[in-house]
Amino acid sequence: MRFDVVSLFPDMFSVVRDAGVTGRAHRQGLWNLRAWNPRDFTQDAHRTVDDRPYGGGPGMVMLADPLEQAVDAALAASQGRPEGRGLAAANKVLQDGVPVILLSPAGQVFDQARAQALASSDGAVLVCGRYEGVDQRFIDRCVTHEISLGDFVLSGGEIAALAIIDAAVRLLPGVLNDAESALQDSFNPVLAGLLDSPHYTRPECFEEAVVPAALLSGHHGNIAAWRRRQSLILTASRRPDLIERARRAGLLSGEDERVLAEAAKPNRKQ
Ligand SMILES: C[S@@+](CC[C@H](N)C(=O)[O-])C[C@H]1O[C@@H](n2cnc3c(N)ncnc32)[C@H](O)[C@@H]1O
Repeated sequence: MRFDVVSLFPDMFSVVRDAGVTGRAHRQGLWNLRAWNPRDFTQDAHRTVDDRPYGGGPGMVMLADPLEQAVDAALAASQGRPEGRGLAAANKVLQDGVPVILLSPAGQVFDQARAQALASSDGAVLVCGRYEGVDQRFIDRCVTHEISLGDFVLSGGEIAALAIIDAAVRLLPGVLNDAESALQDSFNPVLAGLLDSPHYTRPECFEEAVVPAALLSGHHGNIAAWRRRQSLILTASRRPDLIERARRAGLLSGEDERVLAEAAKPNRKQ
C-alpha cells in the first residue's frame, strides 16, 4: 500500500513513517509513504501557496494551482507514469481512479470501516488543507473523497492524515504480530463491532484494587465469557448505537442479550 501526502509540513509524516508499529512496517516494506509540498510547485520567488479570500473575511485560502500540480506529480509517481498537467482532473472522472482524499471538517467522518476499506486498497493521495481551507475549484476538479476526523477544527489536515494512515496501516496483513492483533480491538467485526473489554497486568493487587478473578482462573472459556460480558456492558453504557448496530446485523447471541438485559436492570450487581 502506498500513501502520497500533499502537505506544507511534510516533516510531520516522519511520525508514522519512522516510529512504532507503522515505522516497523515501513522499514519492512509493507507500505510506502511519499510527501509532496505544494511550495515545490510554485513559480514565484516567495513560493506562494495561499492568498486572501475573495469576498473578504479573515485568513488565507490555499491556491488551487500548486495543490493540483502536487497531486498530478503524486499520481504520476504512484502509477509510474510520466508527469503531466491534468492527471488529477482526469483521475477524478475515472470509475477506478486513485482516491484523492481531502481532509476536511465537511467530509464523511472517519471510522474503522473506512480504515479497513483503505487497508484493503492500494492506498490513496491525502491532501492536507491549512489556513481557512483550500480553493473550491481544486476540490471540484481533483478531490474524489472528503474525510473528517470528527466535529472539531484542526489547524491543518496533517494530524487527520496521520490518524488515517496509522489506522489503515495497522490493519495490513503482517503489520501487527499476534500479541498486538487488531482482531481484539474495539469496532472489529470479530467483536461484533463492540468496544474492547478492560485490560489488567501485574501486579495482581494495586492500591487494594485486585484483578478480576476470571482473568486469573486460567480457564479460557471463563476468560472469554468475562471479556464478552464486559465488552457488552461497556458498549451498552458508552455507545448504545454500537449495540443496536450489532443487534440489527444479527451479531448478538441469546447469551449476549441476557447479559444486556441483566445489565439494564436497576441496582444490578457489578
Ligand atoms: C483551520 S482548518 C479550516 C477550517 C474551515 N475554515 C472550516 O471552518 O471548516 C484548516 C484545515 O485543517 C483540516 N481540518 C480541520 N479540521 C479537520 C477535521 N475535523 N478533519 C479533517 N481535517 C480537518 C482541513 O484540511 C482544513 O482545510
